[in-house]
Amino acid sequence: MGWQTFRGAREAALPSLLDHPHHQLTTSGRAAILLALECVGVGPDDVVLLPTYHCPTMVAPVLTLGARAVFYPIDESGAPQLDWLQVQAPRQAKAMLATHYFGLPQPMQANRAWCDAHGIALIEDCAHAMFGRSGPRAVGGWGDVAIASLTKFFPAPEGGILALNRPDLQLPALTPVPMIQQVKAAADILHMGASHDRLTGLNGLIRGVFALRGLTRRARGAQGAQGARGAQGDGAHPPDAVDANMSLIDLPLSHRALTRASAWVSTEVPRQRIVQARRRHYERLLQALQGSEGFRPLMPQLPADSAPYVFPLWVRTPDPGYLEMRHLGVPVSRWDRLWPGVPTLQGDAGVPWSHHVLQLACHQDLSDQELDAIVAQVRRLFGP
Ligand SMILES: Cc1ncc(COP(=O)(O)O)c(C=O)c1O
Repeated sequence: MGWQTFRGAREAALPSLLDHPHHQLTTSGRAAILLALECVGVGPDDVVLLPTYHCPTMVAPVLTLGARAVFYPIDESGAPQLDWLQVQAPRQAKAMLATHYFGLPQPMQANRAWCDAHGIALIEDCAHAMFGRSGPRAVGGWGDVAIASLTKFFPAPEGGILALNRPDLQLPALTPVPMIQQVKAAADILHMGASHDRLTGLNGLIRGVFALRGLTRRARGAQGAQGARGAQGDGAHPPDAVDANMSLIDLPLSHRALTRASAWVSTEVPRQRIVQARRRHYERLLQALQGSEGFRPLMPQLPADSAPYVFPLWVRTPDPGYLEMRHLGVPVSRWDRLWPGVPTLQGDAGVPWSHHVLQLACHQDLSDQELDAIVAQVRRLFGP
């Protein structure tokens, strides 16, 4: 969040899930997946079809509801392998999640037809594709239900979208947000901007207020901790660190409404700059990262009707370079923590992608220098 957030035209040239005629804001993309599953009647012991290439947050909602995940293979374009599903999908499959990876819209017509033919609900995962068109429809227009994630595109500390395309489905009633949470969300947005030096004129003031708050909290915490240590004795150990994304998700939070500040930031900020800057950054990375033996752009073209979330780069030997990039703070991620039990399937691109594909940031607020620094690190670590 910075002053630049408010630059440019309100409307983008691409449709957004925020314009969907039957949508509701949620606390996150994963909460929206959970609500989507509930909407289409997924419950304990039902089967949900999920891609082998995934972020754990796509799987956790399924298990949280007591349903079973069956993983299907994807092809080199990121599309579900429908021939495999035709033969292997269990009879009790109730829903299938299909994802517009990296914000590059996938064709959804064949998925739609396959799901219709088998009486399976299609959940269209637009977490990476807030804007765009897939064939003749806006993204989010193909699934029985579509979901999106606000934090990936807007300077909001939390948020997602649930959108319904079937008239017989109903948006859930979400629980109201406590006032303290409302205030905290607004403060978090300002703090996020100030801590990145994006609110010139207010950075020092906001950081000062938060530093002061931190000091008082620490002082109170130290007093509390002394008491707690006394009660536990010296042998107490901190609990094992748990990977939050790999655990089940928070049910009450998933059923809570979105805070007003996060909703306002996501619905009111100009969209044109976001779409244009992300496209420009993707094109710049595409140009700069051509022609090496050690790496190649996974998707050699940027589709016209898209606003990318990240730039996927295929790397021949990603380790240990990937770790070094992370240590250096280069904005890059990899979906290398597959959910336990993901099978190795012949012809599947998903599992190899989880090792070889790095997702480089192409966020609207990156500068050309920052993009060039990403390119320099990729060249240094993975090829000429
Ligand atoms: C494809 C995909 N779907 C869903 C989610 C969940 O979104 P959120 O982080 O808003 O819960 C993510 C998160 O990274 C994602 O990448």
